[in-house]
Amino acid sequence: MRVYIIGAGPGDPGLITVRGAELVARCPVVMYTGSLVPREIVASARPDARVIDSSGMTLDQIVEVFVEARDAGHDVARVHTGDPVLFGSTAEQMRRMDALGIPYEIIPGVSSFTAAAAALGRELTLPELSQTVILTRAEGRTPVPPAERLEELARHQATLCLFLSITLLKDVTAALIPAYGADCPVAVVHKASCPDQKIVRGTLANIRDKVRAEGIKSQSMILVGRVLTSTDFADSRLYDPDFSHRFRKAEKKLLVPGTTEEDS
Ligand SMILES: C[S@@+](CC[C@H](N)C(=O)[O-])C[C@H]1O[C@@H](n2cnc3c(N)ncnc32)[C@H](O)[C@@H]1O
Repeated sequence: MRVYIIGAGPGDPGLITVRGAELVARCPVVMYTGSLVPREIVASARPDARVIDSSGMTLDQIVEVFVEARDAGHDVARVHTGDPVLFGSTAEQMRRMDALGIPYEIIPGVSSFTAAAAALGRELTLPELSQTVILTRAEGRTPVPPAERLEELARHQATLCLFLSITLLKDVTAALIPAYGADCPVAVVHKASCPDQKIVRGTLANIRDKVRAEGIKSQSMILVGRVLTSTDFADSRLYDPDFSHRFRKAEKKLLVPGTTEEDS
């Protein structure tokens, strides 16, 4: 018996992994976070499967399902939105399973931040512009450690992906403008990969008004950084004809010792 903690992807049922889909179709118990995971994802459960929406349940009730499945010798497909290791409230479930000796395994998924970047058609890391992506959230009802406040993170001017923050855009923009500048590009992707996906593009100065005009209040990724609009970034070294690495010799010169393909 095992609990499989499966990433369902950002919404498009085609974006669950093959492994995740196979497990949903095979497990006798399927429990999904119905607030964000679309019903189509669990529609492939076997006809005799127990399919449970956990959106109205407490942690104790969720763990009770795991215990009952363990006692019956049944595998569980525990389906979470996006990737289960990001803002998934999965750690507390794993901690309970560790205490109870219930085996589990995580099956990764496509996170909403990569789905949002895909919707925008942008790479989040660009040579010499930003080589760092910060995945975070603004402080709302859930506290954020002081060293991770947006004002602190902003000092790096890295590409930012903000989860769970769409209703806090006023605080977000106020915290970021001093370091990034009011003209810094921002994109909000609402329901990335879903049929009703919406994209709002703007700057730190005007994104709040634009998002409000669209009536967007939930399920959105906020992306911030110059990578969103830059066109004059440097080419990477990976495909530079003068740059050698493990898989290709330079046409001309420049064998940089000790470099690998990751050094692009
Ligand atoms: C509880 S967190 C879960 C994140 C998830 N584990 C992931 O990897 O995407 C929910 C937040 O993720 C973001 N999110 C989830 N699905 C999204 C989607 N399809 N489009 C845009 N943002 C999404 C929103 O910021 C939302 O408030």
